[in-house]
Amino acid sequence: MNVLITGATGGIGKSLIDIFIKNNYHVIALGRNVDELKKLQNKYGHMILCYKINLNYEDEIDSFFQFLEDKKIKIHILINGAGIGELDFFKNTSYQKIKKIIDTNILALTKFTSYFYKRMIKKGGTIINISSTAGFQCGGPLMAIYYATKSYVNSFTYSLYEESKNTKISIILLAPGPTLTNFAGMSQNLNSLEKLYITSPKEVATALFNGFIKKKFLIIPGKINKILYYSNKLLPSKIMLSFIKKIQEKKMSKE
Ligand SMILES: NC(=O)c1ccc[n+]([C@@H]2O[C@H](COP(=O)([O-])OP(=O)(O)OC[C@H]3O[C@@H](n4cnc5c(N)ncnc54)[C@H](OP(=O)(O)O)[C@@H]3O)[C@@H](O)[C@H]2O)c1
Repeated sequence: MNVLITGATGGIGKSLIDIFIKNNYHVIALGRNVDELKKLQNKYGHMILCYKINLNYEDEIDSFFQFLEDKKIKIHILINGAGIGELDFFKNTSYQKIKKIIDTNILALTKFTSYFYKRMIKKGGTIINISSTAGFQCGGPLMAIYYATKSYVNSFTYSLYEESKNTKISIILLAPGPTLTNFAGMSQNLNSLEKLYITSPKEVATALFNGFIKKKFLIIPGKINKILYYSNKLLPSKIMLSFIKKIQEKKMSKE
């Protein structure tokens, strides 16, 4: 079985590669970072095929799809993992940065989903979108564009889940909370409170793999994140917004 992972060179992506290969899946790993791709190729040998791509360029995505067709490589599981965010006030965020976030988190994810969904209709397959608990919030001050893109991913994935009932396609929404990777605002020393709820990429990958085996739809790694997900629904939006703003300001002051 072949698993295609975008964002394979990042923290969560690399842990996903590890767990899928340990369970005998072949991985097609996508990213821009050539050094990381080479390391992955050396580490996993014939179990992995690494492909350099910038998801902000549609022509590169089209060439990749053509590459798969030419090589007759079938994808059984798609994991849309690539994602970027900002950590700044909207007034300081350039339009170029805004566009990159939307291109990566929304357009590329949707293009990959559209391409593989249509090819999975006959023989079946699984599409896993990596969103974030951020996508369940009413907004995310200082990460306004990122939170909005993850709301899109959640809404889109919920819709596909409903549309895919009684088909051969399984849809999974992975919504991690803060996870220790190179992601915006995450590369920092943790205090004792943060250690309680910040997950490791390995925990996220393990939760996803177990959920995939158990055929779950919504996977939220970490007990505290699950509790926060349910308790968020009870709190007024204005309180949540000011709470999120304080957390992001604190992260920004550490950068
Ligand atoms: N870390 C967190 O706290 C957290 C929490 C919730 C959800 N998430 C989500 O988890 C996913 C993985 O994030 P991570 O934490 O593992 O972050 P990360 O370590 O920064 O990894 C991001 C990945 O996205 C790829 N990527 C970014 N822009 C790209 C582009 N234009 N073209 C191709 N690939 C691109 C990167 O590849 P290259 O650098 O090689 O291009 C890298 O593999 C994201 O969707 C993120 O939103 C993260």
